[in-house]
Amino acid sequence: MSAGPDRPIGFFDSGVGGLTVLHECLVSLPAEDYLYVGDSSHFPYGDKSRERLRERATTIAGYLLDQEVKLLVVACNSATSAAGDAVRELGRGAGVPVVTVVGPEAEIAGAITENGRIGVLATPATVFSGAYRRALEDQGRELTVTEVAAPDLAPIIQGGATFSEEVVNTVRGYCRPLKEAGVDTLILGCTHYPLVAPLLQRILGRNVRLVTAGHAIAGAIQRRLASEDLLREGDGEGGYGFRVTGDRESFVTLGTRFLQLPLSGRVEHLEL
Ligand code: DGL
Repeated sequence: MSAGPDRPIGFFDSGVGGLTVLHECLVSLPAEDYLYVGDSSHFPYGDKSRERLRERATTIAGYLLDQEVKLLVVACNSATSAAGDAVRELGRGAGVPVVTVVGPEAEIAGAITENGRIGVLATPATVFSGAYRRALEDQGRELTVTEVAAPDLAPIIQGGATFSEEVVNTVRGYCRPLKEAGVDTLILGCTHYPLVAPLLQRILGRNVRLVTAGHAIAGAIQRRLASEDLLREGDGEGGYGFRVTGDRESFVTLGTRFLQLPLSGRVEHLEL
């Protein structure tokens, strides 16, 4: 089947985090169809080795390419940091464009910082890959980058305790080095973190600008589809569906909070 605007856009993440990115796309590009894979039986990605992440990311990307998606979105920072190149390569082989997180947020952060001090809060896999540091340094500007690895944050959020004292104390601890460094811009380098954005804003202060993947990626997807002549025309609403490798019920319950749109009746289990 040749590439055409009526095929769905494929997304994947380790679980529900990428739904914060899908949310922006459903709002910004409502006419498109979307197919999302949540690899929740392998969550968290943030503590996994590069090799393991490359294996998962290429397996899921292969599945989505088999579903004949017209564009593939890696809506997970840990997967992008470890396997963005491998997924891009698979996409190239299949003639399908690939959009990933990391680059678009780094570009926005570099453009909006006033004091040149940028913070990155992300999973250990993302921080230790150095992907954000490279993306920021490649801009050729004088930037001071403070990266904080947050091993507990995505698991607490995915566990459903987003608005607990536990999360407040955890986030406070991660914010300390960012405050000390005087960052004026913070990249939320994990697609789970927009759920704690109000908390981060309160602790860091109103003057610190938070950059999430959602806005950055929706814009990147739109530009890419337009340049490939793959944008779906019309004012209608497309469809969206989910495949999860873990428990379906918990994905629906937790995912609704991330997507802020109904998931029920749209989720199928996937053995992968
Ligand atoms: N949402 C994933 C990311 O953006 C991370 C969560 C995890 O550790 O699986 O990195």
